[in-house]
Amino acid sequence: MEAQTSGSLRDEVWAMPLDRFDVSKGYLFQDDIVELYFERLRKEAPVHLCQSKRYGPYWSVTSYRHIVEVEQHHQVFSSEMKRGGIALAERPPEEMFPSFIGMDPPRHTEQRSTVSPMFTPQHLATMESTIRGHAAEILDGLPVGEEFDWVKRVSIELTTRMLAMLFDFPFEDRSKLTWWSDMATGDPDGNGAVTSWEMRIGELKACRDRFVQLWNERVNAAPRNDLISMLAHSPATRNMDPDEYLGNVILLIVGGNDTTRNSISGSLLALNRFPDQYAKLRANPELVAGMVPEIIRWQTPLAHMRRTATQNYLLGGQQIRAGDKVVMWYLSANRDEQAIERPHEFIVDRPRPKHHLAFGFGIHHCVGNRLAELQLRVLWEEILKRYPVIEITGQPLRTRSNFVHGFVSMPVRIPARV
Ligand code: HEM
Repeated sequence: MEAQTSGSLRDEVWAMPLDRFDVSKGYLFQDDIVELYFERLRKEAPVHLCQSKRYGPYWSVTSYRHIVEVEQHHQVFSSEMKRGGIALAERPPEEMFPSFIGMDPPRHTEQRSTVSPMFTPQHLATMESTIRGHAAEILDGLPVGEEFDWVKRVSIELTTRMLAMLFDFPFEDRSKLTWWSDMATGDPDGNGAVTSWEMRIGELKACRDRFVQLWNERVNAAPRNDLISMLAHSPATRNMDPDEYLGNVILLIVGGNDTTRNSISGSLLALNRFPDQYAKLRANPELVAGMVPEIIRWQTPLAHMRRTATQNYLLGGQQIRAGDKVVMWYLSANRDEQAIERPHEFIVDRPRPKHHLAFGFGIHHCVGNRLAELQLRVLWEEILKRYPVIEITGQPLRTRSNFVHGFVSMPVRIPARV
């Protein structure tokens, strides 16, 4: 980002009065210039109040240590959907579906523990060979010597297949999962598939109906190892109403989809931006496992999570008041020079690569983090066996969103097979 940014824009950002800073604007992410603003906030106002026209007043927390402080004080900084939930953008209550990411303890703890067995190292080990088979099939089907869209052919396809596995969702209909995920995170002002709020809600209801049908099939059958069966049989979730079920389904679809998808795309961009690191990786494929957390830090596929203060709290010298919106910008924390050495560089063998906040921190720390890492590791192991280089041939198109930090498309070309 930095190398491509003209000095004059940086000068403008540093000359602008801080009370005009609003880092929630989608174009800052689409144009990949938001770090210029974050950099100044981290230095001069790491806990900064913005009077946004669109979202109302909200606090931006941009430094690593203050974000950790917010996450550690979950009694003060609530995730509860009824208070506004976990994203800056809020929808009216009839369009907000409860899920455990938007709950505080004790309900959060009970529902999280219903699905967490899916993501233990032991269970993931049983999924590895199937994920490897899917990765190999997708990679073997790629054209050599022609331009194609990496996002569509690889990032979306692999994550969609993985989601179908988690839910044991009918494989031939798997593209619906991605579609519903795009509906759930989209917004008519973005550059994705959602063109109106009515369309979004209509599609989410279709998602609910399809998943209710699958619930009905599984609730009376013996418990199985898929997320729908786990939710249908657990005492913590078996009495959920259809909207809460939809909320949790969406959480698991979105959690597993956008994030991993954009890490896959981001990994290719990172290696193209840092060719010496790409060469090092090619010469030492055993570096893949250590590179994976570095990919996730470098990309940070969820730019923020939001909390709502339940009481007054002094954070970084600023008086947060009960009811205030507090936004934790993970994307900024993962570029914080005070916490991470050479944070703008992508280093395949970085010491302590897991020292990042892309998965959050504390009680809501990403439950699927090991699965995301597994997919990235397996994919890169399989890529290196086949294709020594994958070149990015044009400008990737980024998402116009302050939440999902990723890519709509990324043109690439594979010059040759090994
Ligand atoms: C929570 C990031 C992959 C499911 C979260 C949170 C973040 C995050 C930032 C919120 C943490 C907080 O509020 O403190 C990521 C990233 C991923 C990824 C960067 C990939 C690179 C996945 C996958 C799944 C998943 C593969 C599962 C299919 C969830 C769920 C939660 C969550 C269910 C809610 C946890 C809770 O509230 O206790 N993730 N995630 N995520 N993630 Fe992920």
